[in-house]
Parts: sequence; structure tokens; C-alpha cells
Amino acid sequence: MPTAREPAPHNLDRVEAVPRPEVRAVLEADHACYPPAYRVSLVKVQALCDGFPEGVTLYRGRFGGGRLGGTWHPLGYSAWHPFDPDLLERPWPTSVAILPGAPSAYLYNYSVIPAFIGSPIARELMTRLAEQIRGIPTLAADTVSIHGVRAAQRWGMRLHEARQVDGAPWELWARRGGAGPRDADPPISGPRVNRPPLT
Ligand SMILES: CC(C)(COP(=O)(O)OP(=O)(O)OC[C@H]1O[C@@H](n2cnc3c(N)ncnc32)[C@H](O)[C@@H]1OP(=O)(O)O)[C@@H](O)C(=O)NCCC(=O)NCCS
Repeated sequence: MPTAREPAPHNLDRVEAVPRPEVRAVLEADHACYPPAYRVSLVKVQALCDGFPEGVTLYRGRFGGGRLGGTWHPLGYSAWHPFDPDLLERPWPTSVAILPGAPSAYLYNYSVIPAFIGSPIARELMTRLAEQIRGIPTLAADTVSIHGVRAAQRWGMRLHEARQVDGAPWELWARRGGAGPRDADPPISGPRVNRPPLT
């Protein structure tokens, strides 16, 4: 959903992937990516950043300033954490505990702002996330869009549960204990729009 604040891709002059980002920056990225029904709370972002900071990566871009300045905007973020695989034996909880060391990854979120869906930055985010979770046998992911479903399927996940949350459709996709079809050989393809290299 484009907003008045959403920057135009052609004005982008610098991109950064920020590991272990600040809570406020992640919250801002989330709200830039999603309509109100799907936005995350400050409490949840705080829990993700405190509980498993290595699973959180922010993507931000500087627009319209060349070397002299410009304005930084959030472009997207990914966040995941290990969880108890036994949770997949029962209805998925509304709040999933972080379980360090568990052989699992709950892909809490992977998203870019609407103007950058289908861009090399989205590809960068997805391939970096794929590298982070490579070799982890059990996966779960919330999906709220066809984009999320497509990515989940590429990781070998299947639909596990579907329901309405606060009146909006919600699905959980999951994979138990096996490698996905793309785990061994993630695809690399050419850029669809021009953009500066990620730092
Ligand atoms: C999820 C999102 C970031 C994906 O971006 P996208 O531009 O639609 O990405 P695509 O699915 O076309 O994939 C782009 C590239 O990323 C890589 N990729 C995507 N999914 C992958 C996966 N599961 N494993 C490895 N690589 C993957 C591939 O290189 C792919 O390129 P290819 O299709 O040429 O092979 C984006 O659609 C988005 O932000 N959507 C809105 C938010 C949303 O619904 N998020 C889902 C979770 S709720």
C-alpha cells in the first residue's frame, strides 16, 4: 500500500543492510511495509531485538541527497528466531517464545515497502534470510500475502493452519525436519531494476 511518505525507487542513492538494528528503526520499517491490520507492536519488536538480535536485519535507503545528505528511509526488514518444534503439534500460539539453540526457525517477518517488491533489494533480503536459516530443519512462517506464501513454498513449507486474526486472514506455513527444495541451491538471477550496491 503506497503512502505519501514512500520514497520513489529512482531517487535511491545508497542502500544498507543493518544487522541487529535499533527497535525504533524496525518498528518504523514494519509500519512502512504493512497496512494497519498487519503491523507489529512495539512490545513484539522489543522482544525480537532483545531475545534474538542475530535474527533481525533492517534494510534502509538514502534518497535524493547524493554525497551531501539526503534522507534515510526504511526499506524493509527480516526477523526470525528459534522456537520449540513441538508447538507444531497444537494450535499455533498468539505469542511464540524464543528458544535459543532449538533446531528451528520461526520466520516472524520478511518484507519490503511496496515500491520495492520485485526489486533487487527484495531479492537481497530473501537470499540473505535464506543464508541465515540454511540447514535449520524445522521452519514456520506467518504469511499474510501471496508473496509470503511463495517464499514459504520455496523453503519447502506447507500450509499448517489458517484463521482470521482481528478480522484479517492469517496463515501459518511450516516444514518439519527436512530440507526445502531451494535449501541446497538458492537461485541467483539478474536485477529487475537498477539500484546502488548494498553495503
Ligand atoms: C516477501 C517479499 C520481501 C519478497 O519479495 P519479492 O520481490 O516478491 O521476492 P520474490 O518472491 O519474487 O523473490 C525474489 C528473489 O528472492 C529469492 N528468494 C525468494 N524466496 C526465496 C527462498 N524461499 N529461498 C531462497 N531465495 C528466495 C530468489 O532469488 C528470488 O528470485 P527469483 O524469483 O528470480 O528466483 C515481498 O514480496 C514483500 O515484502 N511482500 C509484502 C510483505 C509480505 O507479504 N511479506 C511476507 C511475509 S508476511
